[in-house]
Amino acid sequence: MADGFRKPIKMRVDVLALFPEILAPALKTGILKRVQDADKLIVNLHNLRDWATDKHKSVDDYPYGGGAGMILKPEPIFAAIAALNPETNAHVIYLTPQGIPLTQGVVESLSLESHLILLCGRYKGVDERVRHRLVTTEVSIGDYVLSGGEIAALVLIDAIGRVLPGALGDYESAHVDSFSHELLDHPHYTRPVEFADSGVPEVLLSGHHENIEKWRYAEALKRTAKCRPDLLQKLELSEEDVEILKAAGLME
Ligand code: ADE
Repeated sequence: MADGFRKPIKMRVDVLALFPEILAPALKTGILKRVQDADKLIVNLHNLRDWATDKHKSVDDYPYGGGAGMILKPEPIFAAIAALNPETNAHVIYLTPQGIPLTQGVVESLSLESHLILLCGRYKGVDERVRHRLVTTEVSIGDYVLSGGEIAALVLIDAIGRVLPGALGDYESAHVDSFSHELLDHPHYTRPVEFADSGVPEVLLSGHHENIEKWRYAEALKRTAKCRPDLLQKLELSEEDVEILKAAGLME
């Protein structure tokens, strides 16, 4: 992975998949469209079948040793990655439930790379030699099994795209939102001030920025304690944090 906090001028992402068309509509929308229009991100979609060598364009085969399900053959994947990465400097990511869990930290680290190749599995996955020889990192988007890696690749591109410089208009804003400071996000309100028999917390109407920041921090802390106690356990809590949680009955 790239070292330091260097922001790439432009990121290139090559997606290698059996159904790359799954990603196309999302890439034409919203922030992902904006970062591509601004030339910060180039995404190329490739069909693995284009590198199949036999007349049936086959990309899968039966597993040695028997068993259910097909395996993606190594030859088309090796040929594709050699073509897409002749200088062998790309970071090759295989999307699989066996990968490291995708977190905001992983997203931010990968956002510093200049060339990613996202390899999407299908069926029972890829021949093991692909993993050993070609793949730099395996990434999972959660503990469940999707029908293929395409949606996982899109999740990864979306998460990376929005932290690239220029994506949100204000680069910093992506780095202060939920998870960037390891807490869940605080509650948000907009107009009207009264709605469904419920009002907006007084502090948010006060114009007192310091109090507003304190309130937001306390709410984020409490929400994290309630919804994701596992995240909180990884943090070093200050005395003030402990007081906030005790007062809310979220800590003994
Ligand atoms: N392919 C299938 N399931 C997946 C998952 N949970 N994460 C990443 N890639 C996958």
